[in-house]
Amino acid sequence: MRKLLPLIGTPSGSHPGGRSAMTCRFRCGDACFHEVPNTSSNEYVGDVIAGALSRRSVMRAAAVVTVAAAGAGAAGVANAPRAGAASPAADGTAAGTSAGTQSGSGGGARGLRFSPVAPNTTDAVVVPDGYRQNVVIRWGEPILRGAPAFDPERQSAKAQAGQFGYNCDFLALLPLPGERGRQLLVANHEYTDEVLMFRGYDSADPTREQVEIAWAAHGLSAVVVEEDRGTGKLTAVPRHHLNRRVTATTEFRLTGPAAGSELVKTSADPSGTKVFGTLNNCSGGTTPWGTTLHGEENFNQYFANGSRATDKRYGIGTGATERKWERFDKRFDLAQEPNEAHRFGYVVEFDPYDPTSTPRKHTALGRFKHEAATVRLTRDGRPVVYSGDDERFDYFYKFVGSKRMKKGSSRAVREYNMTLLDEGTLYVAKLTGDSPAIEIDGSGKLPADGEFDGSGEWIPLATATADGAVSHVDGMTAEEVFVFTRLAGDKVGATKMDRPEDIEPSPVTGKVYVALTNNSNRGVGTNAKADEANPRNANKHGHVLELTERWNRPESTRFAWSLFLVAGDPNDPATYFAGFPKDRVSPISCPDNVAFDPYGNLWISTDGAQLGSHDGLFGVATRGARRGELKQFLTVPNGAETCGPIIQDRRVLVAVQHPGEVDGASVEKPASTWPDGPGKLVRPAVVSVWRADGRDIGV
Ligand code: FEO
Ligand code: CA
Ligand code: CA
Repeated sequence: MRKLLPLIGTPSGSHPGGRSAMTCRFRCGDACFHEVPNTSSNEYVGDVIAGALSRRSVMRAAAVVTVAAAGAGAAGVANAPRAGAASPAADGTAAGTSAGTQSGSGGGARGLRFSPVAPNTTDAVVVPDGYRQNVVIRWGEPILRGAPAFDPERQSAKAQAGQFGYNCDFLALLPLPGERGRQLLVANHEYTDEVLMFRGYDSADPTREQVEIAWAAHGLSAVVVEEDRGTGKLTAVPRHHLNRRVTATTEFRLTGPAAGSELVKTSADPSGTKVFGTLNNCSGGTTPWGTTLHGEENFNQYFANGSRATDKRYGIGTGATERKWERFDKRFDLAQEPNEAHRFGYVVEFDPYDPTSTPRKHTALGRFKHEAATVRLTRDGRPVVYSGDDERFDYFYKFVGSKRMKKGSSRAVREYNMTLLDEGTLYVAKLTGDSPAIEIDGSGKLPADGEFDGSGEWIPLATATADGAVSHVDGMTAEEVFVFTRLAGDKVGATKMDRPEDIEPSPVTGKVYVALTNNSNRGVGTNAKADEANPRNANKHGHVLELTERWNRPESTRFAWSLFLVAGDPNDPATYFAGFPKDRVSPISCPDNVAFDPYGNLWISTDGAQLGSHDGLFGVATRGARRGELKQFLTVPNGAETCGPIIQDRRVLVAVQHPGEVDGASVEKPASTWPDGPGKLVRPAVVSVWRADGRDIGV
């Protein structure tokens, strides 16, 4: 029997997904305490739509016009305990992995030859022996000209608008031609933890200044970073002309088939094309044409007084919001601006090379709780974008563009490429298992054929062209499909998944990996029961799906699938590591963001791990004899989630999101002192990790 480490802070059983109550409250508006929004049996939902639309003016016809229209922190820096130390294993084996095969740099697949970090509850970023780290940038560090140094006792919205935002999630590192030793970092700022930001915060009565600071702490940051010669250390370059903040009040252009429709018009924007701000940007992607994509995820929590049927399908509450923004800007009050929420929940595209560019919201990729958006190209140069809808029992999607990418970096070419995601077809995934249903008993026990696997199809929902858009869903116009995409998925019988998070195609094999983080409601009450693609009831630890598109072509509408990982404690029979011996892998729980290294190994970060250890970053081989060999590379501090992994030859970059987010914690009573040590405010930050000997990661 494996003995679990004592839990730090919370994960209490009453908070599904293992999060602290504070995470539930600020991150996703207590999504797990509301009813499961997908009550469809994937049957006719015409009555829902009719209710949703009854108060709106008559829809346009199906044809829709495409709009032209610090060095290492003072605290919290640690290397992994030596083999055997801090192991959760009662039998004394190190880190739940076999000694011998994984210790030192000699074992493991190329790119994964490091000593795995043992599960632990250290208030630090813990990295393998022989690795070093530095904090690249923290919440509040000034990045724009004129922004003041961070002073939490004198914070203002104006200051925050020039400083790095809160709760960094997705990260992109882009080349910076002509500036040797520098790269351009783009980060998402998903949400704010007001009780950890403001001394004496009163959630019943936030001040206007606090609210406006929170608006300025959401959004995106672009900041140039400089490499240290000979190490993987990165430091921010303040006041660089490419540095930029995008916040909850920055002007965006709504583009694609639903832009300009009645569904997205408001009293402040009768054109239905101009939106202020982006919210809850979770993960994202980098396009082959040099822009970044950012998923607007739990946007529902920012809107008060939702009352329509579609609001409920998106989890929008009928009362006041947690942050009370509706008191300070009526657009957050749906009783006053009923369409404002229809302008959030999209994939955002941002051009970090042009600080004057207006970022876009692409309606052709649909509206749902986009976790991320990952792009690859067809052989003839058209974009294919994968995106998961992070909600229990919701779906994952693919967009296949119809326009080819142009090469080049002129302004005209960049402008053209930023229209690529406006035309194409949006699909939703339907999966079928190949084992008899009776063999899927909800325990995670493998069926007789030895695999959770089967076939799948991408079901078309709507197609957007330069001349208009066409719906493929009976009873819904194209505009409705793009704005109420969840309802379209319900109608066509998409497969209800266990919270689809990040999706990433392997640059080496073309196989596509989908992180399904958990779903403690699977099989509970009247909710959907386990199926072959989601084979565990009360799924606490999540799983990772592997798709093989037919002919290995991303535009295919058919695919084969299998479960690559079924996460948890390897001693739990209900786990599966692609068939690799389970006594030789690290425990993992709640896979969230995924990335590939240059060798084709999949790296997985976790959020809300349920095994008594802090969240972490793991690498796993996807090919060859070591396929399924999973090793923990780092862990993050108290209350934090690991985000934004980027794996370069000589550097691993992670975003440490919401450190100290533990029930009962506040500025006065911090649950973490990361990254700057006792007496300093806990701050979300980006961390770079590299090898002390200067060699490549994991070789
Ligand atoms: Fe923001 Fe689905 O995690
Ligand atoms: Ca099977
Ligand atoms: Ca995430």
